[in-house]
Amino acid sequence: MTTTRSQTLDRVLVLEMVRVTEAAAIAASTLTGRGDEKAADAAAVDAMRTALNSLYMDGTVVIGEGERDEAPMLFIGEKVGSAIGKGPKIDIALDPLEGTTICATAGPNALAVLAIAEEGGLLNAPDVYMDKIACGPGYPEGIIDLDKSPTENVTALAAAKGVKPSEIIACVLDRPRHSKIIAELRALGCGIMLIGDGDVAGVIATTNPDTTIDIYMGQGGAPEGVLACAALRCVGGQFKGRLLFRNDDERARAAKWGVTDLDKQYDLTELARGDCIFAATGVTDGSLLAGVKRKGKIMTTESVVMRASSGTVRWVKGEHRIG
Ligand code: FBP
Repeated sequence: MTTTRSQTLDRVLVLEMVRVTEAAAIAASTLTGRGDEKAADAAAVDAMRTALNSLYMDGTVVIGEGERDEAPMLFIGEKVGSAIGKGPKIDIALDPLEGTTICATAGPNALAVLAIAEEGGLLNAPDVYMDKIACGPGYPEGIIDLDKSPTENVTALAAAKGVKPSEIIACVLDRPRHSKIIAELRALGCGIMLIGDGDVAGVIATTNPDTTIDIYMGQGGAPEGVLACAALRCVGGQFKGRLLFRNDDERARAAKWGVTDLDKQYDLTELARGDCIFAATGVTDGSLLAGVKRKGKIMTTESVVMRASSGTVRWVKGEHRIG
């Protein structure tokens, strides 16, 4: 373990973060496949909030369930933790149930996700869309660029990998708005993994050779973009993001949270900087983690927790006895 890099987040928090995502995942799992997205999300939110409030910290939700007037719990700006005003100041990005539809329909890759950073370390991203592109570690810096076409990005990545563009596998959210990207990738002969939801897992999949996914492209939620960046800060990889605004209300929200350049292409370290910790627990089985399983009175969970300053990645299997 290095002692030269900044390690300003207390190491104790690393495993505490797993407790928080485990609690949310277990709560959501009781509603997996029940067709009720709202109930599953509410269960996860409630459990995550209770777990966060038991931690000794002065936490602020910077990415949460929405703005105060639209989210009763874990809204942006909500203070959490048991030591408000005296504990370590921590910024928190969270998604207690990433993939509400996935959970409701028992599909793959629903996660409970959390990232924490020092105060000011995470972009206060408004709940708008973000244009995203990501690849795993080991490529020259700047190889992906949102100002380049999918063809240019794939061609550059293939050349750096030493393969043909047709050997590149891309992950894209299955949405009509991505028809142009998909058509370009098809013209190159790329493999495309179309996912129904859950682009936090989609972005992280580029960092894991076992998934065979080389590149992630397309538009998804901006909060999910920041969460994925926290993970990439820990395990390597590149990410570019640009906020997308559909109307003046969304532009006004961005301004409210301090975004001045609305067309900016953000780099990984502008979205998640300094020391940060990323934690996730699987709700349903997926490319990153197995989902919650119940066997009699035992619930099993699979989680991952990583830290940017050390690059340590811990895979945590939990057994939880229920009453
Ligand atoms: P939710 O958990 O909020 O349903 O988000 C799921 C998700 O698929 C994200 O992973 C992704 O960033 C976003 O929705 C895409 O938005 P949309 O469904 O509007 O295309």
